[in-house]
Amino acid sequence: MARKKVLVLGSGAREHALCRALSAEAEVTVMPGNAGIAAEAATLPGKADDLPAVVAAARASFAELVVVGPEAPLCAGVTDALVEAGFLVFGPSRAAAELEASKSFCKDFMKRHGIPTSDYAVFEDADAAEAHARAIGRPLVVKADGLAAGKGVVVASSVEETCAAIHAFMREGLFGAAGRKVVLEDKVTGQEVSFHAICDGARFVPLAAAQDHKRLEDGDRGPNTGGMGAYSPPPVVTPALEARILAEVIRPTVDGMAKEGRPFRGVLFAGLMIGERGELSVLEFNVRFGDPETAVLLARLDGALLPYLEGAARGDLGPLADRSPPVRNGPALAVVMAAAGYPESPRVGDAIEGLDAAAAVPAVSVLHAGTRREDGKFLTAGGRVLCITAHAADLDAAAEAAYTAVDRVRFAGSQHRRDIGARARTPQKSRATTP
Ligand SMILES: Nc1ncnc2c1ncn2[C@@H]1O[C@H](COP(=O)(O)OP(=O)(O)O)[C@@H](O)[C@H]1O
Ligand SMILES: [Mg+2]
Repeated sequence: MARKKVLVLGSGAREHALCRALSAEAEVTVMPGNAGIAAEAATLPGKADDLPAVVAAARASFAELVVVGPEAPLCAGVTDALVEAGFLVFGPSRAAAELEASKSFCKDFMKRHGIPTSDYAVFEDADAAEAHARAIGRPLVVKADGLAAGKGVVVASSVEETCAAIHAFMREGLFGAAGRKVVLEDKVTGQEVSFHAICDGARFVPLAAAQDHKRLEDGDRGPNTGGMGAYSPPPVVTPALEARILAEVIRPTVDGMAKEGRPFRGVLFAGLMIGERGELSVLEFNVRFGDPETAVLLARLDGALLPYLEGAARGDLGPLADRSPPVRNGPALAVVMAAAGYPESPRVGDAIEGLDAAAAVPAVSVLHAGTRREDGKFLTAGGRVLCITAHAADLDAAAEAAYTAVDRVRFAGSQHRRDIGARARTPQKSRATTP
């Protein structure tokens, strides 16, 4: 049988991971991809959020399935445009992507369906928002309603800081239209985990939990980033907690979206806070695979990915629904290598050495994010440059393998954390990977 033709949209490590997993089962084209992806799959130029260009790419690549990586095209309606043009698409419609596109929609939705999340209020007027912040008298979390490239949230530590964020978002227009409306919500504490489920509009397939590391520096210090590394599974998510996540978060979300006429087809990614005593609170939903979570989730997958994505896209997971896909024994861990100046102003154009030596480390997969190729050389071309992923029998061995590979890669100004997964690792061994 001829291999299915699949078009993947996006250009990060997430898309490289998807491309590698799907290449075992399909003929993959990526738009636009990156230099690492281009070395192993067909790529097409263009932007993933340029809808006419995406439809043209789907036609040019004879795509039998389009898999959408990032949120921006989903929130702009790329799925609707492709479906209209006759393509099968893995990724929610614009109406369903509202769960990520609008934090106020997401909070109101959770409230309507009894999904656990912190108390909140929504404001379109800065004076009213400040009055609310002062009346509450505790520092709050300020969230820009719209997409702000992961920068639209301030976890304030004083009322003054809450008001300063309100001022910057609403009066100064820090995020343009995305911040004219804000959500003010109560802070919750605990461990953050993410949980992914592949949904077909009515049923779902739970993937595993994962833990991302958002801050730039070891010990969760420094500025927030897109994610500096991840591992899966995190021990805090016990089987009992996973059952609660499915029953209290994923199930009511899938049902609620269907009831509201926005059936959710694609990956539902719940950002969760797990309190000291196992309290569960949803921080947000994303409507696509996480990055770097995808690297670790797919590294553990033991079998095909394509039938899940196709089933969800068709709106019928059939016999695949309700059970997790088979995974290999042992955890996976991914370390992001970022460019000099990341996250504020990443420098591009630094030559990357040692990629082959890193890829030669057993059990390691070197995924590219922000790279380009010039005269046969790989150069940095974005904030997050590489995502080095390892799968092993235990987390210490996975970290050992990943850091052995990380240490073989060199580029000027490279930044990475040494403590990915440390929370779940043996303390002495965890120190051993610190130089
Ligand atoms: N209610 C909350 N209490 C404490 N921390 C929060 C809360 N909401 C968000 N955060 C923190 O802010 C980060 C970003 O918030 P999130 O809602 O995930 O928005 P986004 O990913 O779109 O920036 C979270 O990963 C979490 O660390
Ligand atoms: Mg988030």
